[in-house]
Amino acid sequence: MATGRYARATAVGSALPSRIVPNSYFESIVDTSDLWIQERTGIKERRFAGPDESTGSLSAEAAAIALRRAGVGPESVDLLIIATCTPERSIPSTAAFVQARLGMTCPSFDLNAACAGFVYGLSVADAQIRAGSADRIMLVGAEVLSRVLDMTDRTTCVLFGDGAGAALLEASDDAGVVDSLLALDGRQAELLTVPAGGSGEPITTETLAQRRNFLRMLDGQAVFKQAVTAMADACRQVLDKAGLSSDDVKMAIGHQANARILTALGKRLGLDPERVLIDIAHIGNTSAASIPIALDRAWRRGLLEPGDVVLTAAFGAGMAWGANVIKWTIPHPAPDERAREREDA
Ligand code: ACO
Repeated sequence: MATGRYARATAVGSALPSRIVPNSYFESIVDTSDLWIQERTGIKERRFAGPDESTGSLSAEAAAIALRRAGVGPESVDLLIIATCTPERSIPSTAAFVQARLGMTCPSFDLNAACAGFVYGLSVADAQIRAGSADRIMLVGAEVLSRVLDMTDRTTCVLFGDGAGAALLEASDDAGVVDSLLALDGRQAELLTVPAGGSGEPITTETLAQRRNFLRMLDGQAVFKQAVTAMADACRQVLDKAGLSSDDVKMAIGHQANARILTALGKRLGLDPERVLIDIAHIGNTSAASIPIALDRAWRRGLLEPGDVVLTAAFGAGMAWGANVIKWTIPHPAPDERAREREDA
């Protein structure tokens, strides 16, 4: 077993539910259009979980793919982290269900930083490995947002999708996760929230009637503007910490909330469009799952080479945000993985 004090990714994996929901579906339930959704967000379709799918089942599927690709067994994992804001249940953690499903025996917990969950998780996993507390960590970002969407609210229901992405991180002598930067401004917690269903406001017939058990976004434009500014600042700061600049970045893989946010982020960082990954058209905003799904799909398409500097950045409810600088360490996919990408696309 490697004993270095750095964390590097040795495999990624992702799982999407099989139900494809095109924009035209929303034309039939709210006052919207395929054109508006595509022009304002870049989304054409998204996946919604079916009756037998959940945050736990999608997490387990994505993690199992990463384990298979790494060629290691579930019993060899020292820590399992599930980044999610749509957990399987409120008690116990989603991680408890995933650990049992995969046959893992390690300590396991959920982490909620909404859309920034994977960026936060990568920082936590990196710190665990650097501290010598774990040698092999499975980090999953997973969401089933369709179950908290208000299907009468056109300002939110068209934006989100379900799915899971996983990264297996292992101790190494070389830094794969180079540096991270995390931030949160809790004064803005009300901007994007599911008001009822927690201890602060339990579910009652009244809260259900007022649809307070569903996701609400108070001001989409404010979230948009802050997302661009905060992610750009976080990217600059984390690159600075790592002694790097935008010129060193091969690919920026931001949280896939809106194609226009990612384009604006790339411009602020001075990155050519081909160095900013936009992979939202068939996936939608999958919150904590969006970066690991995008990483897996980019890797399968052959867009990431070992040694590439990859910049990840996210912004979401909390408002929580952050960024990581990663040196890509996973060799090119085998031909069958590439073929599978063509099937999924
Ligand atoms: N279909 C048609 N019209 C719509 C829709 C829709 N689905 N949604 C809103 N509109 C209307 C609005 O009512 C408004 O109409 P009005 O001018 O008559 O008032 C008009 O379109 C423009 O609305 P804006 O909100 O100004 O549109 P904008 O261009 O800002 O796009 C969007 C809205 C897509 C929500 C954008 O603001 C956005 O992406 N915000 C960021 C969301 C985000 O990043 N979330 C990240 C965190 S998610 C998490 O953490 C779980």
